[in-house]
Parts: sequence; C-alpha cells; structure tokens
Amino acid sequence: NEIKIFCPATIANISCGFDVLGVALDTIGDEMVVRKTQEKGIRITKLNGQQLPMETHLNVAGVAGLALLAVSDYDGGFDIEIYKKIKAGSGIGSSAASSTGAVWAMNELLGKPFSTLELVKFAMEGERLASGVAHADNVAPALFGGFTLVRSYTPLDVIPIPSPAALYATVIHPQIEVKTSDSRKILKTTISLEDGIKQWGNLGGLVAGLFTSDYALIGRSLEDHIVEPIRSILIPGFDAIKTTAMSKGALGCGISGSGPSIFAFSKGEQTAQKVGTGMKDVYKKIGIDFDVHISKIN
Ligand code: HSE
Repeated sequence: NEIKIFCPATIANISCGFDVLGVALDTIGDEMVVRKTQEKGIRITKLNGQQLPMETHLNVAGVAGLALLAVSDYDGGFDIEIYKKIKAGSGIGSSAASSTGAVWAMNELLGKPFSTLELVKFAMEGERLASGVAHADNVAPALFGGFTLVRSYTPLDVIPIPSPAALYATVIHPQIEVKTSDSRKILKTTISLEDGIKQWGNLGGLVAGLFTSDYALIGRSLEDHIVEPIRSILIPGFDAIKTTAMSKGALGCGISGSGPSIFAFSKGEQTAQKVGTGMKDVYKKIGIDFDVHISKIN
C-alpha cells in the first residue's frame, strides 16, 4: 500500500529536438513516497527541498495524479510525499520528475492498469500546469527511461531509442532560475524553411547515430539553429561554456531543456569529467555559482 521511488531528472530538446527529444539521467533525481488511502482524492502531505505549492490543484504531482484518478475505477485516494533534489527552474525536468513519479507510483499501487504511454498523457497535465504547454519531452524519457522521441502529439506516439554504451552527459547548472513559461515566451512561432531543413537533418542524424552507436554522427548532429540562438542570451557564459566543452572533447553541447542548465555529451567517462572540469573553470573565472553532474546514459 506504499511505495518509495526515484524520479529521474531529464534533458529535453537535446539541441535539435525541441519538444520531441529527451533523455533520462539515472544519477540525478527526486524521491517520492506514495501511499494508498481510503480517503478519496490526492493530498501532498510533505514537500521537502523546494518552496513549491502543496495544494493538489497547484502542484504538478497533484494535477498529474488527478488526471489518472479521473479515468480510474479506484474509489480511494493517495497521499504523496515529495523529496525534491532537482531545483525548480533548473532545466533538467524538475516538474516532470514530480508528475511522472506520482502517476508511475499510483499505477504500481493499483496493479498497473495503465500503459506507460497512458502515464505519459497523465504526466503531461503536470507540464501544462508548470509551463502552460503539455510538452512530453521530459515526461516521456522519465517514464520510459533512456532516450525517447515524441514522433507525434496528436495522436501521442512515443518511440524509445537505444543509448550507445559509452555515452555520458555532463550537466552544469548556473544557480539562477529560468521559468520554462518565460523562456517559451521569447521564442518565435515561425521558422524559415532553411532553418527547418538544417534542424530535421540533424534530428534524423542524431536518432540514426543513437541507433547505430555512431559517436561522430551524434556529435555532428548536436546543433540547434532555431531555439539556442534565442534562449542562450538568458544563460550567463553560455558561449564560453560551449567552446570550452568542445575544446575538451565533448561530442556536442547545448541548452538542457529550457535552461539555464547546459549539457554536453561525451564518449567515455574520462572525457565527460574533463568537460566538467573545463565548464567549472569557466564559471569560477566569471564568478558564477554552479552545480555539475556527470551521468552515464543508460
Ligand atoms: N521542450 C521544453 C522547452 C522543455 O524547451 O520549453 C522544457 O523542459
């Protein structure tokens, strides 16, 4: 009647896959305890680590859970305890960790009546609350694990993608908060055909590279001609971090989700560590506080 779970952080977009591509990080995440109750509805009974609303309708875990309950024949409810380790507004899927954790745990406690794809749909309601848009590029990898591609939103079609064995992510988080809703507002709503061609060429290349473990192809494909030029102005030292990551041997580097975290992919842990050290030195030099995480991609 009770379950304790790990809720992974995620890198969304991955340069060329705005709103469609994402990957789960096994070494960074929140914890959650979910308990079945006779009392109907959902209550957030504890929220440690971050200042976030605990009212069910204002909390992403609460809203995602309500979406599941609305179509379930279960006539009880759930209490949820959330232990946040991922900072809100950091760009590594803080809201997605909470909304996916809630629905995944509830589904387990109910004997798994829902498919993973259905859980993605419920969790997207949490994202709608957090950012104004029900994007699935964080919640899908958080639920499926590894990389996922949202091939289509209507109907929802999520494709799990394999991870090359030696792929590592280095993520640096400058200690400022960027709300996804704000960093979406500054984006243009139309793109040129020329930019579209570059972007979908890279997206196809990246997916092909992941399937075939072609690290050079992955590296060539990690480019973003549409979103990064606009959003990078919100991130202190972005160009210096990216130049340094590439000079230390990263395959590619870009904004994690809606930022301000910056991610780099590397082949092998040693390179990922070198990239992390280089990134740290940049922020130390310009006087910006940060966290760095290195994660093997599974
Ligand atoms: N695709 C979303 C965005 C991810 O970039 O706005 C937010 O985590």
